[in-house]
Amino acid sequence: MRLSQIKLSRPARRIGPAVFLLLGACLGLAAFPRGTLAASTGDHLSMVAALSDLQAAIAEILHANNSYVTDRNYYHRASQRAINALEGVNGPEYRAAAGTPGDAEGVLGHLDALLHRKGTPVWAAPLDGAEANVRGAVAHLLDANKARELMEYALATSRALAYLEVARGRPDEVGVFGGLEGALANTVLGVPEGATVVDGCSDPAHAPSYGVHGGYIAWVAVPASVGVHALAESPGENSLKVVNGVIVLPTAAAALVAADCRKHAEATPAAAPVKTAAKAADPTGASGSVPALYTKAQAAAGAQVFANNCVACHGTNLQGTAAPSVAGMDFLTSAHKNGWTVEALQYLVLNDMPFNAPHSLSPKAYASVIAFLLASNCYPAGNTPFPTADQPAFAHIDIGPVPGRHPGVNNFGVCPVG
Ligand code: HEC
Repeated sequence: MRLSQIKLSRPARRIGPAVFLLLGACLGLAAFPRGTLAASTGDHLSMVAALSDLQAAIAEILHANNSYVTDRNYYHRASQRAINALEGVNGPEYRAAAGTPGDAEGVLGHLDALLHRKGTPVWAAPLDGAEANVRGAVAHLLDANKARELMEYALATSRALAYLEVARGRPDEVGVFGGLEGALANTVLGVPEGATVVDGCSDPAHAPSYGVHGGYIAWVAVPASVGVHALAESPGENSLKVVNGVIVLPTAAAALVAADCRKHAEATPAAAPVKTAAKAADPTGASGSVPALYTKAQAAAGAQVFANNCVACHGTNLQGTAAPSVAGMDFLTSAHKNGWTVEALQYLVLNDMPFNAPHSLSPKAYASVIAFLLASNCYPAGNTPFPTADQPAFAHIDIGPVPGRHPGVNNFGVCPVG
């Protein structure tokens, strides 16, 4: 009898409108003045590979279930191949002889590599959940592997499929129920290498680009020009708006991001006018008013934090490799032009950095890495460490070139630390 004739109690998968176009291609070519490059760590590719291994395992089981074969070994081989795609070569149940429809890493290999981080990036919850469900599916596939009757096999694989569906998740769910698809659609894991990334609190001025905030993708912008523009992943929401002549596709995380952006905007009402007033009231000029915001020892500790968590993207000389420069003339002039304050710097680092794992450092490590950035930008050291929490005064302290002579400053305008 044909296995597909046995009714499988598998939850129906909700298929969203497919927007799988080909954005990757045009993103690669994009170059914008203030546009920045996403992580060069391969996280996105690992995540895409994890999903593809998962889909390969599902397809393997479905294919066997729909076949007319009567040989039991055929089914056992299918469940073993699915296990191989899920566990990868390092899994305890991996059996090379059966072959694998996935890659050598397997879903669990990719997820373990991604989750092997200190701290908890926003995508840790859906990935942890997916990992648990994949392990549950493997347990049922092992049962299927031992099944003597086709009925037994079908029941075990239907349970495995139910787990795998949950692990795959859906792009319109943020958080643990999103599974792998949700993490790809809504978190920085979905940003392909080389893509242009801007702050998700604002509307895009250019396309293609990704609006990212606090580790979430708020929107994906595609050019409103004729042709097919593809997306790395389907965004969770099925609405779109047109802003500044580009098409903006909000993700399921858009509301979450908007709320956080509002919260921040309310916490810092009208920073700019106050800043001007404060300046006007200070006739001594900038040089006399550059405050000491951190201690020497803290900046030295921050150098270590930077070396461990930031250097891959911002470079040993802080001039940037896969990301913008964070110290020196270029950084300070553009920060000044954009009206950056210490508050803005602190906010960005605390909420968005490291770009591939926001919120992953301890408050103390964040404070010291900001101290290191201030020191590298030639801000003076003092007796009070940079705080772990926001200070109202920070909204009035500008980031910009620090007047005066700076001993040891290098050609990029970066001051020595330590
Ligand atoms: C995986 C790559 C990556 C890592 C690691 C990383 N960043 Fe970034 N960083 C970026 C990208 C991309 C941007 C630009 C996007 C943005 O502004 O949101 C950026 C922007 C910044 C900026 C603003 C610079 C500007 O001119 O816009 C600062 C400051 C910064 N990062 C500090 C840090 C610190 C401190 C760490 C370590 C705790 C860190 N970054 C780790 C990729 C990274």
